Amino acid sequence: MADLYFPKGFVWGVATSAPQIEGGVHEDGRGESIWDRFAAEPKRIADGSDPSVACDHYHRWRGDIDLMRWLGVGAYRFSVAWPRILPEGRGAANSAGLDFYDGLVDALLENGIRPFVTLYHWDLPQPLQDAGGWGVRTTAEAFVEYTAAVTKRLGDRVHHWITHNEPWCIAHLGHEDGEHAPGHRDPAESLRAAHHVLLSHGWALDAIRENSPGAEAGIVLNLVPVYPASADERDRDAARWFDGFFNRWYLEPLFCARYPEDAIADRIRGERIDPRGLPFVERGDLESISKPLDFLGLNYYSRVVMRAGDTGIPVAAPMVPREALTDMGWEVFPEGLYEMLVRIDREYKPPKIYITENGAAYTDEAGADGRVADSRRIDYLRGHVAAAHRALAAGVPLGGYFVWSLLDNFEWAHGYTKRFGLCAVDYATQARTPRDSAFWYRDVLKKHAVDNGSGHTTPRRLK
Ligand code: FCB
Repeated sequence: MADLYFPKGFVWGVATSAPQIEGGVHEDGRGESIWDRFAAEPKRIADGSDPSVACDHYHRWRGDIDLMRWLGVGAYRFSVAWPRILPEGRGAANSAGLDFYDGLVDALLENGIRPFVTLYHWDLPQPLQDAGGWGVRTTAEAFVEYTAAVTKRLGDRVHHWITHNEPWCIAHLGHEDGEHAPGHRDPAESLRAAHHVLLSHGWALDAIRENSPGAEAGIVLNLVPVYPASADERDRDAARWFDGFFNRWYLEPLFCARYPEDAIADRIRGERIDPRGLPFVERGDLESISKPLDFLGLNYYSRVVMRAGDTGIPVAAPMVPREALTDMGWEVFPEGLYEMLVRIDREYKPPKIYITENGAAYTDEAGADGRVADSRRIDYLRGHVAAAHRALAAGVPLGGYFVWSLLDNFEWAHGYTKRFGLCAVDYATQARTPRDSAFWYRDVLKKHAVDNGSGHTTPRRLK
């Protein structure tokens, strides 16, 4: 087996988010979030569950840090729950909420683990939703107040800040598709939401710079490489459509201070928005959104192959049999990670990129000896780490890699039915069991290298 070495300083981590692991939703003055409300509505969550207990990380965080130390990670990406800090969304900060993250950050640092803090991983305080949520501009103002409260308290010790996680999911899944909180199905609102999320990102950067001088600040996008199902002009146009709707709608405002013309035209043509375009974009907004970033975070899971549907509406074309998909129904396609990294670097030139999430949902039961042999997850991770290595070798400024996730957790509308953890969680006892993939990752972190499985590549040390 050939080992692929990574450069010194490359950050290896694991990622989680507050609503997916914390639980403790009624404790220490935390307010209600849109995911608490959404999960309480009938039929929203596949297994009828909710995030009220999740992995009980709110009480077990010390043990979870021990697990990370055992793994040997150098960084931990987690999110702060806005409703713990500002239970009403705005106004006076709840010091007990800030104390929780203060203790977490100190303990991470004592264990040599760098905190990468996501400010918004989808848990909007319900009172802000009641006032219009991301559909209204005032929510962007509230986000700045929240960012200021968190960065004032933690800005001296946290040196990596992420404003938002996956604006496409917030805007589209939450407001157009209805699959995520707040569960709306309103195309026009979803574009307003996307804009206000991006705007709040740009505005919040100033608060981060002020309260956490010298820190790196960025945003996390979920990007998907899109391929046409054939060379046919119509399939290529279907791929262009999806790329505009999913990737460029976020990349272009952030890096080029504009929304993609072709994608706006697609929306108008499809009668998904007002024929006037984007009337909610005010003068100066795009300048705020495109302020310089220190890094772009990339969440990468899979690719999409598109074809022109029979009715002219583009549809996804499955490329592999069902058995080859992960439990999320996603194709395993490491090559797409390489291609996306190279494309982002060439077309948008962020100063640095972190892979802020990558991982796979598979259910593997423990054997008689208690071991969870999740070889499919190991293969998935190995393939993607090797693709990341190739991107580095091609000159992409890749700063690090985070596995999603440390633990099995509350997978949004899927409830607890999808298992992404390096460590299995028994929700009845809250016991954590490292799967074989955790041992594999631990080994990678010890060597700062991954065997690429081919046996062909000459080992090379990257500078
Ligand atoms: C991403 C989310 C993360 C997790 C993974 C599987 O879209 O950021 O919270 O649910 O997918």
